[in-house]
Amino acid sequence: MQTQIIVLAAGKGTRMHSALPKVLHLLAGKPLLAHVLDTAQRLPGQRTWVVAGVDLTLVQQACVGYPVSWVAQREPLGTAHAVSQALPELDDTGTALILYGDVPLLEPATLTAMVASAALGALALLTAHTEHPTGYGRILRDGSGAVIGIVEEKDATPEQRARTEINTGIIAVPVQKLRAWLARVGNANAQGEYYLTDIVALAAAEGAMIQTFHPHSLAEIEGVNDRAQLARLERHYQKSHAERLLAAGATLADPARFDCRGELRVGRDVFIDINCVFEGRVMLGDDVRIGPNCVIRDAQIGRGAVIKANTLIEGPVVVAAGAQVGPFARLREGTHIGEQARIGNFVETKQAEFGRGSKANHLAYVGDAWLGEDVNVGAGTITCNYDGVAKHRTNIGAGAFIGSNSALVAPVTVGPGATIGAGSTITVDVPAEHLGVGRGKQRNIPGWQRPSKKDEH
Ligand code: UD1
Ligand code: CA
Repeated sequence: MQTQIIVLAAGKGTRMHSALPKVLHLLAGKPLLAHVLDTAQRLPGQRTWVVAGVDLTLVQQACVGYPVSWVAQREPLGTAHAVSQALPELDDTGTALILYGDVPLLEPATLTAMVASAALGALALLTAHTEHPTGYGRILRDGSGAVIGIVEEKDATPEQRARTEINTGIIAVPVQKLRAWLARVGNANAQGEYYLTDIVALAAAEGAMIQTFHPHSLAEIEGVNDRAQLARLERHYQKSHAERLLAAGATLADPARFDCRGELRVGRDVFIDINCVFEGRVMLGDDVRIGPNCVIRDAQIGRGAVIKANTLIEGPVVVAAGAQVGPFARLREGTHIGEQARIGNFVETKQAEFGRGSKANHLAYVGDAWLGEDVNVGAGTITCNYDGVAKHRTNIGAGAFIGSNSALVAPVTVGPGATIGAGSTITVDVPAEHLGVGRGKQRNIPGWQRPSKKDEH
């Protein structure tokens, strides 16, 4: 039987005070809605519809690539009205699961149990006990403990408000029953809205089976209504990610100062210092050490490599085993640092391959370049790869030595074992084992008188 997931994302999000639709605000670098859709994808045999409002096109664009169908809710007349917009597309034989686009951290395991219960005909509610129920709908139970309804805070009596079991909003229900109950929901309430929660009292009145489920943690069910909640959920997400890494055998100097906005895979005995940000897909091999304040995006760092403080890696970048990078290095896309190679402070690389054991220890720009093994690039060396129109390549053979402050005007090739004299501007190829020097010849003028200031009075 198919699970038909309806994700509600048409609310106004007024409290974000933002031009961006609420569900597109980022948690761990990914839109809130994308978190929900990723969770939805992990449920077996599902099909997903997203109900979006005036921002439908924007939201759709931000979620291209997700195999979901889109439904418009032109006016946000309430959660029941939102679900009704998707109803014509649902198949009566299946189970409906209703999720919220602004509740990003739900676990699939929590939902699977609810879907299974609904598949057996029950109305499955995700509820939670909390000492801070303010803002949520409250679960109403009769003397025997059976659920008899949900009351929204704005409609609740003081006695009902004192109840601490809250409605998370997440519901699983047979489609056929949902259809019948929704048809009977009105909007005579404090907010003049069609409440999805009203189907619970209808179900109870019919004697339908109602089962409640609980999340593993309260963060799972927390929705984002304002930026303070968003920041709280971000911290929660990062903290649990950090804990997973610790459990997997990584050392974090401070789990509270760790941020991953993508996917991070680590080998054994990895050390990550404080204030690092990982983005995109990052893989750290065994024994890798990452210094403080590094930003690393889309990179593969090989076994035993060391990335020193304040390094910025904007991948795709590969740093091979045993290499050392930083402090203050910037590796840009298409950089491949070979085994045991060293990239030092204030070195920028782009589309550059460094062979095994090659070094650029300070102050260099190496772009569109191929370097063989054991090349030494002196401080201040620049590959002049761009003539204002096109990019050109620089090739440097194994064992070459580039003297400090050299400009290698591409396209140019420096042969294996060649040496470039410091301060050279190299415009023609240098053959293997040759010395290339291209600089003004030094003159020494004896008895030179420095200009002196004239006496002014
Ligand atoms: C809703 C529940 C409340 C529950 C709370 C949990 C109802 C009536 N109330 O209240 O019991 O405790 O969630 O967070 O269901 N949405 C639409 N179209 C609409 C209205 C809302 O798509 O017309 C979407 C919103 O984008 C959001 C979700 O539905 O994703 C919940 O809407 P929201 O206005 O936040 O509901 P609450 O008042 O918080
Ligand atoms: Ca809400």
